[in-house]
Amino acid sequence: MSAVFDSLSRFYTSSIGKKFLVALTGLVLVGFVLGHMIGNLLIFAGKDAINEYGHLLQTALHGGGVWIARIGLLVAVVIHIVATIQLTKANRAARKDAYGMQKAQVSGTASRTMIWSGLTILAFIIYHLLHFTVRVGNDYDTYKTVLHGETVQDVYRMVIAGFSWAPASIFYIIAMLLLSSHLSHGFSSLFQTLGISTDKTEPLFKKLGYAFAGLILVGNCSIVLAIWLFGYGR
Ligand code: HEM
Repeated sequence: MSAVFDSLSRFYTSSIGKKFLVALTGLVLVGFVLGHMIGNLLIFAGKDAINEYGHLLQTALHGGGVWIARIGLLVAVVIHIVATIQLTKANRAARKDAYGMQKAQVSGTASRTMIWSGLTILAFIIYHLLHFTVRVGNDYDTYKTVLHGETVQDVYRMVIAGFSWAPASIFYIIAMLLLSSHLSHGFSSLFQTLGISTDKTEPLFKKLGYAFAGLILVGNCSIVLAIWLFGYGR
Protein backbone atom coordinates (compact mmCIF):
# COMPACT_ATOMS: atom_id res chain seq x y z
CA MET A 1 0.00 0.00 0.00
CA SER A 2 2.73 2.39 1.01
CA ALA A 3 4.71 1.43 -2.14
CA VAL A 4 1.70 2.43 -4.28
CA PHE A 5 1.34 5.69 -2.34
CA ASP A 6 5.09 6.35 -2.69
CA SER A 7 5.08 5.87 -6.47
CA LEU A 8 1.91 7.99 -6.83
CA SER A 9 3.48 10.76 -4.79
CA ARG A 10 6.76 10.50 -6.82
CA PHE A 11 4.67 10.68 -10.01
CA TYR A 12 2.84 13.80 -8.82
CA THR A 13 5.98 15.60 -7.61
CA SER A 14 7.71 15.05 -10.99
CA SER A 15 7.10 17.72 -13.63
CA ILE A 16 6.04 15.13 -16.24
CA GLY A 17 3.55 13.59 -13.76
CA LYS A 18 1.97 17.01 -13.17
CA LYS A 19 1.83 17.71 -16.92
CA PHE A 20 0.14 14.36 -17.48
CA LEU A 21 -2.49 15.14 -14.82
CA VAL A 22 -3.14 18.60 -16.31
CA ALA A 23 -3.67 16.92 -19.71
CA LEU A 24 -5.88 14.13 -18.36
CA THR A 25 -8.09 16.49 -16.34
CA GLY A 26 -8.11 18.86 -19.36
CA LEU A 27 -9.51 16.00 -21.46
CA VAL A 28 -12.29 15.41 -18.88
CA LEU A 29 -13.12 19.16 -18.95
CA VAL A 30 -13.07 19.25 -22.78
CA GLY A 31 -15.62 16.39 -22.76
CA PHE A 32 -17.77 18.21 -20.20
CA VAL A 33 -17.71 21.52 -22.10
CA LEU A 34 -18.78 19.76 -25.32
CA GLY A 35 -21.53 17.72 -23.62
CA HIS A 36 -22.81 20.77 -21.72
CA MET A 37 -22.93 22.87 -24.90
CA ILE A 38 -24.89 20.17 -26.77
CA GLY A 39 -27.33 20.00 -23.82
CA ASN A 40 -27.63 23.82 -23.75
CA LEU A 41 -28.43 23.92 -27.48
CA LEU A 42 -31.59 21.92 -26.74
CA ILE A 43 -33.05 25.33 -25.88
CA PHE A 44 -33.55 25.75 -29.65
CA ALA A 45 -35.56 22.51 -29.74
CA GLY A 46 -38.13 24.14 -27.46
CA LYS A 47 -39.23 24.39 -23.84
CA ASP A 48 -40.02 20.71 -23.26
CA ALA A 49 -36.76 19.43 -24.80
CA ILE A 50 -34.45 21.38 -22.46
CA ASN A 51 -36.69 20.90 -19.41
CA GLU A 52 -36.82 17.17 -20.03
CA TYR A 53 -33.02 17.10 -20.35
CA GLY A 54 -32.58 19.13 -17.11
CA HIS A 55 -35.00 16.85 -15.27
CA LEU A 56 -33.23 13.74 -16.55
CA LEU A 57 -29.87 15.03 -15.25
CA GLN A 58 -31.35 15.92 -11.86
CA THR A 59 -33.07 12.55 -11.38
CA ALA A 60 -30.50 10.15 -12.90
CA LEU A 61 -29.55 7.37 -10.43
CA HIS A 62 -32.23 8.68 -8.01
CA GLY A 63 -30.50 12.08 -7.85
CA GLY A 64 -27.05 10.51 -7.24
CA GLY A 65 -25.89 10.90 -10.87
CA VAL A 66 -25.63 14.67 -10.70
CA TRP A 67 -23.58 14.42 -7.48
CA ILE A 68 -21.17 11.89 -8.99
CA ALA A 69 -20.69 14.29 -11.95
CA ARG A 70 -20.29 17.31 -9.61
CA ILE A 71 -17.65 15.58 -7.45
CA GLY A 72 -15.80 14.25 -10.53
CA LEU A 73 -15.76 17.72 -12.11
CA LEU A 74 -14.66 19.40 -8.89
CA VAL A 75 -11.75 16.96 -8.47
CA ALA A 76 -10.75 17.48 -12.13
CA VAL A 77 -10.91 21.29 -11.85
CA VAL A 78 -8.90 21.37 -8.58
CA ILE A 79 -6.14 19.04 -9.89
CA HIS A 80 -6.03 20.97 -13.21
CA ILE A 81 -5.59 24.34 -11.46
CA VAL A 82 -3.24 23.32 -8.62
CA ALA A 83 -0.89 21.34 -10.90
CA THR A 84 -0.88 24.17 -13.49
CA ILE A 85 0.01 26.81 -10.91
CA GLN A 86 2.82 24.61 -9.54
CA LEU A 87 4.15 23.99 -13.08
CA THR A 88 3.99 27.72 -13.93
CA LYS A 89 5.98 28.58 -10.80
CA ALA A 90 8.60 25.92 -11.54
CA ASN A 91 8.87 27.07 -15.20
CA ARG A 92 9.32 30.72 -14.16
CA ALA A 93 12.10 29.76 -11.75
CA ALA A 94 13.81 27.61 -14.43
CA ARG A 95 13.57 30.40 -17.03
CA LYS A 96 15.65 32.79 -14.94
CA ASP A 97 19.32 32.61 -15.92
CA ALA A 98 22.28 32.65 -13.54
CA TYR A 99 21.88 36.45 -13.10
CA GLY A 100 18.18 36.20 -12.28
CA MET A 101 17.19 37.64 -15.69
CA GLN A 102 14.25 36.33 -17.74
CA LYS A 103 15.35 34.35 -20.82
CA ALA A 104 13.56 35.24 -24.04
CA GLN A 105 10.83 32.80 -25.10
CA VAL A 106 8.86 32.39 -28.31
CA SER A 107 5.23 31.34 -27.84
CA GLY A 108 1.76 32.30 -29.05
CA THR A 109 -0.61 34.71 -27.27
CA ALA A 110 -3.08 31.97 -26.27
CA SER A 111 -0.27 29.87 -24.81
CA ARG A 112 1.27 32.82 -22.90
CA THR A 113 -2.08 33.81 -21.40
CA MET A 114 -3.22 30.27 -20.40
CA ILE A 115 -2.96 30.98 -16.67
CA TRP A 116 -4.99 34.23 -16.98
CA SER A 117 -7.67 32.84 -19.29
CA GLY A 118 -7.86 29.82 -16.95
CA LEU A 119 -8.33 31.96 -13.83
CA THR A 120 -11.02 34.04 -15.59
CA ILE A 121 -12.85 30.82 -16.52
CA LEU A 122 -12.72 29.87 -12.82
CA ALA A 123 -14.31 33.23 -11.92
CA PHE A 124 -16.93 32.61 -14.62
CA ILE A 125 -17.73 29.11 -13.26
CA ILE A 126 -18.24 30.53 -9.74
CA TYR A 127 -20.57 33.25 -11.12
CA HIS A 128 -22.36 30.71 -13.35
CA LEU A 129 -22.99 28.31 -10.45
CA LEU A 130 -24.33 31.14 -8.26
CA HIS A 131 -26.50 32.27 -11.22
CA PHE A 132 -28.12 29.02 -12.40
CA THR A 133 -27.35 26.27 -9.86
CA VAL A 134 -27.43 27.96 -6.42
CA ARG A 135 -29.69 30.69 -7.89
CA VAL A 136 -28.53 33.53 -5.62
CA GLY A 137 -30.10 37.00 -6.05
CA ASN A 138 -32.90 35.82 -8.34
CA ASP A 139 -36.25 34.03 -8.02
CA TYR A 140 -35.43 31.17 -10.44
CA ASP A 141 -36.34 28.61 -7.73
CA THR A 142 -39.97 29.60 -8.23
CA TYR A 143 -39.75 28.86 -12.00
CA LYS A 144 -41.62 25.56 -12.24
CA THR A 145 -43.48 23.90 -15.07
CA VAL A 146 -45.49 20.72 -15.59
CA LEU A 147 -43.86 18.05 -17.76
CA HIS A 148 -45.68 14.75 -18.40
CA GLY A 149 -47.85 15.44 -15.33
CA GLU A 150 -44.84 16.12 -13.07
CA THR A 151 -43.75 19.51 -11.65
CA VAL A 152 -40.14 20.21 -12.68
CA GLN A 153 -37.65 23.11 -12.73
CA ASP A 154 -38.35 25.43 -15.70
CA VAL A 155 -34.76 25.56 -17.02
CA TYR A 156 -36.04 27.13 -20.28
CA ARG A 157 -37.59 30.18 -18.59
CA MET A 158 -34.57 30.43 -16.27
CA VAL A 159 -32.10 30.70 -19.18
CA ILE A 160 -34.35 33.16 -21.08
CA ALA A 161 -34.65 35.35 -17.95
CA GLY A 162 -30.89 35.03 -17.27
CA PHE A 163 -29.81 36.32 -20.69
CA SER A 164 -32.51 39.00 -20.91
CA TRP A 165 -30.28 40.98 -18.53
CA ALA A 166 -27.53 42.67 -20.60
CA PRO A 167 -24.69 42.67 -17.98
CA ALA A 168 -24.99 38.87 -17.55
CA SER A 169 -25.00 38.34 -21.33
CA ILE A 170 -21.93 40.57 -21.81
CA PHE A 171 -20.06 38.75 -19.04
CA TYR A 172 -20.93 35.35 -20.56
CA ILE A 173 -19.67 36.44 -24.00
CA ILE A 174 -16.37 37.72 -22.55
CA ALA A 175 -15.99 34.44 -20.62
CA MET A 176 -16.72 32.39 -23.78
CA LEU A 177 -14.05 34.36 -25.71
CA LEU A 178 -11.48 33.57 -23.00
CA LEU A 179 -12.66 29.96 -22.79
CA SER A 180 -12.15 29.57 -26.54
CA SER A 181 -8.67 31.12 -26.32
CA HIS A 182 -7.85 28.65 -23.51
CA LEU A 183 -9.25 25.71 -25.51
CA SER A 184 -7.52 26.71 -28.75
CA HIS A 185 -4.13 26.11 -27.11
CA GLY A 186 -5.12 23.54 -24.44
CA PHE A 187 -6.78 21.11 -26.86
CA SER A 188 -3.70 20.42 -29.03
CA SER A 189 -1.35 20.66 -26.07
CA LEU A 190 -3.16 17.96 -24.08
CA PHE A 191 -3.00 15.46 -26.95
CA GLN A 192 0.71 16.17 -27.26
CA THR A 193 1.32 15.56 -23.54
CA LEU A 194 -0.71 12.33 -23.63
CA GLY A 195 1.48 11.18 -26.54
CA ILE A 196 -1.50 10.91 -28.93
CA SER A 197 -0.25 13.75 -31.13
CA THR A 198 3.22 13.30 -32.66
CA ASP A 199 5.47 15.82 -34.49
CA LYS A 200 3.83 14.68 -37.73
CA THR A 201 0.21 15.00 -36.57
CA GLU A 202 0.75 18.16 -34.46
CA PRO A 203 -0.46 20.60 -37.20
CA LEU A 204 -3.66 18.56 -37.52
CA PHE A 205 -4.28 18.63 -33.75
CA LYS A 206 -3.62 22.40 -33.77
CA LYS A 207 -6.32 22.83 -36.45
CA LEU A 208 -8.69 20.55 -34.50
CA GLY A 209 -8.02 22.70 -31.41
CA TYR A 210 -9.03 25.88 -33.26
CA ALA A 211 -12.10 24.14 -34.71
CA PHE A 212 -13.14 22.85 -31.26
CA ALA A 213 -12.63 26.28 -29.64
CA GLY A 214 -14.65 27.92 -32.46
CA LEU A 215 -17.46 25.39 -32.10
CA ILE A 216 -17.77 26.00 -28.33
CA LEU A 217 -17.65 29.79 -28.86
CA VAL A 218 -20.30 29.83 -31.60
CA GLY A 219 -22.54 27.21 -29.91
CA ASN A 220 -22.66 28.85 -26.48
CA CYS A 221 -22.73 32.47 -27.74
CA SER A 222 -25.58 31.65 -30.14
CA ILE A 223 -27.79 30.97 -27.09
CA VAL A 224 -26.81 34.20 -25.34
CA LEU A 225 -27.13 36.36 -28.49
CA ALA A 226 -30.43 34.77 -29.63
CA ILE A 227 -32.03 35.66 -26.29
CA TRP A 228 -30.33 38.97 -25.50
CA LEU A 229 -30.26 40.59 -28.95
CA PHE A 230 -32.99 38.76 -30.88
CA GLY A 231 -35.53 38.20 -28.07
CA TYR A 232 -35.67 34.39 -28.51
CA GLY A 233 -38.22 32.88 -26.08
CA ARG A 234 -39.54 36.26 -24.92
C1 HEM B 1 -24.06 30.06 -22.76
C2 HEM B 1 -23.51 29.04 -22.24
C3 HEM B 1 -24.08 28.26 -21.08
C4 HEM B 1 -25.39 28.06 -20.71
C5 HEM B 1 -26.65 28.56 -21.40
C6 HEM B 1 -25.37 27.23 -19.52
C7 HEM B 1 -26.48 26.82 -18.83
C8 HEM B 1 -26.48 26.15 -17.62
C9 HEM B 1 -27.64 25.88 -16.81
C10 HEM B 1 -29.06 26.28 -17.17
C11 HEM B 1 -27.23 25.21 -15.71
C12 HEM B 1 -28.09 24.72 -14.54
C13 HEM B 1 -28.82 23.45 -14.87
C14 HEM B 1 -29.87 23.15 -13.79
O1 HEM B 1 -29.79 23.68 -12.69
O2 HEM B 1 -30.73 22.35 -14.10
C15 HEM B 1 -25.79 25.05 -15.81
C16 HEM B 1 -24.99 24.41 -14.88
C17 HEM B 1 -23.61 24.31 -14.98
N1 HEM B 1 -22.81 24.80 -15.97
FE1 HEM B 1 -23.43 25.85 -17.57
N2 HEM B 1 -24.07 26.93 -19.21
C18 HEM B 1 -23.24 27.54 -20.14
C19 HEM B 1 -21.85 27.48 -20.20
C20 HEM B 1 -21.05 26.79 -19.31
C21 HEM B 1 -19.62 26.67 -19.41
C22 HEM B 1 -18.77 27.26 -20.52
C23 HEM B 1 -19.20 25.92 -18.34
C24 HEM B 1 -17.80 25.50 -17.94
C25 HEM B 1 -16.70 26.02 -18.36
C26 HEM B 1 -20.38 25.57 -17.57
C27 HEM B 1 -20.37 24.83 -16.42
C28 HEM B 1 -21.49 24.49 -15.68
C29 HEM B 1 -21.45 23.72 -14.46
C30 HEM B 1 -20.19 23.16 -13.79
C31 HEM B 1 -22.79 23.59 -14.02
C32 HEM B 1 -23.27 22.93 -12.74
C33 HEM B 1 -23.89 21.61 -12.93
C34 HEM B 1 -24.43 21.21 -11.56
O3 HEM B 1 -23.63 20.98 -10.66
O4 HEM B 1 -25.64 21.17 -11.40
N3 HEM B 1 -21.49 26.12 -18.19
N4 HEM B 1 -25.37 25.64 -16.98
